Amino acid sequence: MTHAEDAPGSSDLLVVANRLPFDLDEDGEWRRAPGGLVTALEPTLRSRGGAWVGWPGKPDVAPSAFDDEGMAIRPVPISADEVAAYYEGFANATLWPLYHDVVARPRFERSWWEAYRTVNERFAAAAADAAAEGATVWVQDYQLQLVPQMLRDRRPDLRIGFFLHIPFPPAELFAQLPWRRPVVEGLLGADVVGFQTVGGAENFRRVAARLTDATADDAPITVNGGSGHVTAPDGRTITVGAHPISVDAGHLDETARGDEVAERARSLRHELGDPRTVLLGVDRLDYTKGIDVRLQAFAETLEDGRLDPAETVLIQVATPSRERVEHYAEMRDDIELTVGRVNGEYGSIGHPVIHYVHRSTPRDELVAFYRAADVMLVTPYRDGMNLVAKEYVASRPDGDGALVLSEFTGAADDLGEGAFLVNPHDIDAVGDAIVTAASLDHEESRRRMGLMREQVLANDVERWAAGFLEALGVGS
Ligand code: ADP
Ligand code: F6P
Repeated sequence: MTHAEDAPGSSDLLVVANRLPFDLDEDGEWRRAPGGLVTALEPTLRSRGGAWVGWPGKPDVAPSAFDDEGMAIRPVPISADEVAAYYEGFANATLWPLYHDVVARPRFERSWWEAYRTVNERFAAAAADAAAEGATVWVQDYQLQLVPQMLRDRRPDLRIGFFLHIPFPPAELFAQLPWRRPVVEGLLGADVVGFQTVGGAENFRRVAARLTDATADDAPITVNGGSGHVTAPDGRTITVGAHPISVDAGHLDETARGDEVAERARSLRHELGDPRTVLLGVDRLDYTKGIDVRLQAFAETLEDGRLDPAETVLIQVATPSRERVEHYAEMRDDIELTVGRVNGEYGSIGHPVIHYVHRSTPRDELVAFYRAADVMLVTPYRDGMNLVAKEYVASRPDGDGALVLSEFTGAADDLGEGAFLVNPHDIDAVGDAIVTAASLDHEESRRRMGLMREQVLANDVERWAAGFLEALGVGS
């Protein structure tokens, strides 16, 4: 289908993402919401007069487009009913659990699929409207998998890329999706489809050949290197690659070196009672993150006496997330019950063993937490990458600290040499890793952290963005 009404706009480079880099607050004011993606892409977008197409984060508002220092901001409105069906429903109660190894049971609702299509079509129309003749459009993540083909139908002149920030599941799981074929065909509208890991890219290539009329090669896919190729029935070749995302490592490193952060890290430890060991978890409150397993494993190490509750403290920072989705509300109750139970059993007056914070934390404070922590606990059952693991490493210019990391994260592919890799389903193994990491000698801790810092500092988010754009044919 072509849309004759879609005349070219003026932007040569566009990012299309579910969220804008700005949120509309309660008073209708724009608030910057800078994440890694924004940091990585802002300079390129501004220098090219680029545009960001996305949802302002609030239902039932239709704010006007505006310009932010050379970057066009194009809000896409979403109604309250659509937020419930497209975002909370199809994106976060169907795709999210399906793509994360069915850790929770995905719900397949026909009305949610309809809303997903409608909203994806709206994003595609907004992008088609803003893009100049021959522009490059980079579509982000699982909320917008139909946009590449919808956009191609409207604007065959565009160069289109797609990057999936979450895992792409094995064919055996993906095949459960009643709308599996249109989803894959949606993605095949892109020229380049990127994944966090080689495994995800290989899964997609296999699924494309198995579930659509496309054919696929068997070229080896390597990180930021060799790509696979899928040939669509119309003869187009789609490049399939692995481009692991990263963090703004240089900035985190610099922030962590600052006197203020070092002082805040010291005062934090003091406020905690100067314990021998500080363990830390930082997550969105999401059932995929394995917060439950780490609390349980921690409790067991206190129970069996391998860690001393008088000398050990666990800080768990959990950002509220997707609170109207059923599984999220349930897991919050479970986590808070466990925190209460463990503190009741092993804490004493004025000295809880778990400090639980259920709110978003300012960036500098988060870096101080990272610097204060002897052991970082990252134990998802499945995670596309897990940026927290890389942020921790980037925030340790002192070269100390240890990382317990689930082998089912994308980050495990990058940090496996220095981290303590664990299977989060094996609670004994998680407990053992916590104890080993907490009692690591200084030299070994520095050796491991050194390996991880080398990786993260050399492969930051800017390099990730440049690598993907290069695969799309955009020079820096
Ligand atoms: P996901 O994308 O699934 O949320 P990641 O670990 O990849 O998981 O990214 C989470 C991002 O959110 C990181 O940049 C992290 O610093 C940030 N974050 C997580 N928890 C908090 C918090 N409590 N306060 C502020 N930022 C947080
Ligand atoms: O990494 C997955 C992701 O859904 C991102 O797309 C998003 O920025 C982040 O998690 C937070 O999720 P949400 O936008 O649903 O709050």
